Parts: sequence; C-alpha cells; structure tokens
Amino acid sequence: MPRSRHPRRLTLTAAAKVNLALEILGKRPDGYHELATVFQAVDLADRLVLEDADELTMTTTSGELPIDGSNLALRAAAALREAAKVDRGVRLHLDKRIPVAAGLGGGSTDAAAVLLGLDRLWNLRWPRRRLAEIARTLGMDVPYFLAGGAAVGRGRGEEVTKAAGMPLALVLVNPGRPLDTAAVYGRVTPAMYSGGDMTERMVDALRTRRTTKVASSLYNGLEAAAAAMCPELQRMKAALHAAGALGTLMSGSGPTVFGVARSFEQARQIRARLSRASWSCWAVRSVSGPAVRMRAA
Ligand code: C5P
Repeated sequence: MPRSRHPRRLTLTAAAKVNLALEILGKRPDGYHELATVFQAVDLADRLVLEDADELTMTTTSGELPIDGSNLALRAAAALREAAKVDRGVRLHLDKRIPVAAGLGGGSTDAAAVLLGLDRLWNLRWPRRRLAEIARTLGMDVPYFLAGGAAVGRGRGEEVTKAAGMPLALVLVNPGRPLDTAAVYGRVTPAMYSGGDMTERMVDALRTRRTTKVASSLYNGLEAAAAAMCPELQRMKAALHAAGALGTLMSGSGPTVFGVARSFEQARQIRARLSRASWSCWAVRSVSGPAVRMRAA
C-alpha cells in the first residue's frame, strides 16, 4: 500500500513476546528497577481492527478487559491523539488471543499496534523515535513492540536495541490466572540482583544460532519472586522438562512459562503431552521481523 494513501480501516496482528533473559540490576530512584533483558517476539498474536471514527471507542472478545479509558489500547489512542493534536477518533476492535497479565506483553503489543496503526490511519507519518516517546509513557515493554524480533532492553526495559535472532520453537504454558506485574516487582530483594552477564550470554547464544546454547543460557531474576505468589510455576516447568523441553523459563513477570524445543515438530509433541492438564499451551515459533503487521481492510 503506498504511503501517500491512508485507508479508513486497518487490520493488524500484534505478536506476544517472551524474555529469553531478564536480569534485575538494581532499584532506581524513580521506584522502577534497572533491567537488562532479551525480548523475543513469538507468533501467538492478538488481532485488531482500527476504523476511522469521530470518537475513541472499543469492543473486545475478552471478558477480562475493561473497554473504557483504562484500557491500554484506548490509552495509546488517546495519548497519540493528544500529542498529535488530531481531532479524529477510532473505532477499535480487539480479538484477544494472548492471555492477559501473563508475562507475554499482551497489553503492550496491543498498545504498540494502536500507535503504529493510528499513525497510518491518521496519516501522521511520525518517525519511530517520536512514537517511542509516547510508547514509554504507556508501559516499559511498549517501545520494544514498535520494533519486534530479538532485542535487548535496558533502563526500565524501554531502551531497546536490536539483537541477532535465530529461529526458535517454544512451548508456552499458562496456568489460567493472572499475576500482577507490580506485585511481583514488589517482592524483589537485592539478593535477586545480578550484573548483566546472563543477558550478554544470551545475546552470544543467539549469535551462535545453537538451540542447546540458548536453552542453557535462559535466566529470569524475577522467577523466585513470582514463584512465591504462584506455586504452579515450578510444576509447569517440571512438566515441560518431563515432556522433553531442552530448557524452561518464566517469561517477564509471569506466570506464563516456556520451554525450548529442538524443532517446531517437537514443540507440538511437547504441547500435546501437556494438554491433559488444565493449563493453556501453545507451540509457537520466534518471529524475526516486526511484532506488529498491518494491512488495509
Ligand atoms: O512497564 P509497566 O507499566 O508494565 O510496569 C508495571 C509495574 O512493574 C511498574 O509499575 C513497576 O512497579 C514495575 N516495574 C519495575 N521496573 C521496571 C518495569 C516495571 O519495577 N523496569
């Protein structure tokens, strides 16, 4: 679609992420934690439809999400409208596939999709850097989703640089209940801090393109804090190992955990072995390109 034409309706897919490494480096004066993390987009995705309208309104397939101004996708639209001084609105429909408050960045990827979609729908043509400034006011994962692929996050997670990615097959397991990000961070103690070496190790592992090296380099400094709130974490990890995963890790602040498989075929086998439990499971592939994709529709 030529950049000069701006459509009245867009369909977008917004991919989830996992954190292949996540280190807490320390506590910041602003109350947040200083992070070093490796993000990787995966092909479990929400779908959004954006339609030009006078007001900002939304509908969703999810029974768990508010559809008022507290929804992160609508907040993204309101923030961009204000910053760009646009007098248009949007009718937003969100088909939710990524579990909510799961450590997979579901709300953040939707917010990034809204920013990128409205930039097109409202014909703003903002540079990515300017969209990233709005993105970081919405959540620390949102700037990452403007890019996607494999990337390193520093600062509060919002300072994003691209990393060399490789094809990965993963199995995601979610216990079916949310975990509050702020509550997990609230349980972090200095004993859980580390120096950033594990993040470097994961970046190197991805560069070697060896699945076994990636599997043996997984690290998440929030796991112990989350496990204290969600005892099922260890059971999900043990089940993934027993089903053949090469390595397992909690994603983000949890409670979703993932296992690394040798191939997508093996990921599907592992998923099938786990499907008897009450957990939700997905076999997914890493996404090397943008986390948000759009087409006029
Ligand atoms: O980035 P987001 O708004 O999703 O973060 C939710 C909460 O997680 C924050 O309010 C904060 O309590 C915690 N957090 C943190 N350090 C970070 C990122 C998030 O303490 N780097």
